Amino acid sequence: MNKETFVTKAQLDEIVKEFPTPFHLYDEKGIRENVKALKEAFSWNPGYKEYFAVKATPNPFLIDILKEYGCGCDCSSYTELMLSDAVGIRGEDIMFSSNDTPAEEFILADKLGAIINLDDITHIDFLEQTIGHIPEVISCRYNPGGLFKISNDIMDNPGDSKYGMTTPQMYEAFKILKEKGAKEFGIHAFLASNTVTNEYYPMLAKVLFEQAVSLQKETGVHISFINLSGGIGIPYRPGQEPNDIRIIGDGVRRVYEEVLVPAGMGDVAIYTELGRYMMGPYGCLVTKAIHEKHTHKEYIGVDACAVNLMRPAMYGAYHHITVMGKEDWPCDHKYDVSGSLCENNDKFAIDRMLPEVEMGDYLVIHDTGAHGFSMGYNYNGKLKSAEVLLKEDGSAQLIRRAETPADYFATFDCFDIGKKLLEK
Ligand SMILES: Cc1ncc(COP(=O)(O)O)c(C=O)c1O
Repeated sequence: MNKETFVTKAQLDEIVKEFPTPFHLYDEKGIRENVKALKEAFSWNPGYKEYFAVKATPNPFLIDILKEYGCGCDCSSYTELMLSDAVGIRGEDIMFSSNDTPAEEFILADKLGAIINLDDITHIDFLEQTIGHIPEVISCRYNPGGLFKISNDIMDNPGDSKYGMTTPQMYEAFKILKEKGAKEFGIHAFLASNTVTNEYYPMLAKVLFEQAVSLQKETGVHISFINLSGGIGIPYRPGQEPNDIRIIGDGVRRVYEEVLVPAGMGDVAIYTELGRYMMGPYGCLVTKAIHEKHTHKEYIGVDACAVNLMRPAMYGAYHHITVMGKEDWPCDHKYDVSGSLCENNDKFAIDRMLPEVEMGDYLVIHDTGAHGFSMGYNYNGKLKSAEVLLKEDGSAQLIRRAETPADYFATFDCFDIGKKLLEK
């Protein structure tokens, strides 16, 4: 089965003349259309806001596009906070959803006026000692434990996850925070990842809304927002039914009207912290076939490796591959598509049926727009690739240059050996 690329062969032939492979390519048109549809789906909620999960695609040019649509940033680290600040997203337009948080990260989050989402009850004292006060607006991350199921399908296992507070801890935390001066409260939970079903958000909303009603009643706090976090998935495999954001938005609205409105909580704002859904399908990794190897299996060696896209190596994740210009050829060759790392799991595809691949063919690895480039690393001294934006007018713009050896050696710059390496 096929999956269409957002870039044509003719466009790509031009782009590779300017930018050598490998690189991640992003689709401006797709990003814009998707964020518009998301906003529309939640327009029934006046306070609705998407805080884009910066970790998914930490590129200021892409975040800037989302900013045009009123998106904020969900940050989880010091540098993500810096990035958000640099693109002009500050104050309550930042959700700081971190865990095991170092003091300096809380300090910067507070300085920027971010909403702090506490991962643990012990972080209340830690935060107070670190920044000298408890912010008036505060959020707590909830983990109900057990298994998260839709009908009989296990979506994920929150009971085994390191994030969030237990139910009794949530009550206790809200009481303590209220005593310490917090005035506006939020609840956050992320209970399942990459869900390709329209039921996840409404199910999660039910859990959180019921919890919110009970928390408000028991503790007397004012809950002003509920953050459904990330987790809406994308169809990585061809033929997989994609989520329909209108159905998801409407499903959340129905639960809102069923649970929150009758409890007098019709003023609660809904927040989301989507990453994968915002960018995943609108990015791809472009790579070139540079070697073929015929041993116990048939291998195609490409010029990208797991450094550029770690998901297949790390989780065995499926990413569809299109051999550009051969979309209509029969998929009658079975290949392992591999990178150059000294790791046998550095394979973008195993036993994948593809059209015959010839040296110099360009391969588009689909759906790398989220948790793709950003998970990159430097094993084997491999350098991270460029990022390029395919603009709405069809032109291509460099939005991050590729790393050079000087970038790789930069952290030795204070040593003599580093000075030598950097001179080269
Ligand atoms: C706290 C938090 N929020 C949001 C996200 C984004 O999740 P996704 O990309 O699945 O939407 C993540 C992903 O790890 C996360 O940890």
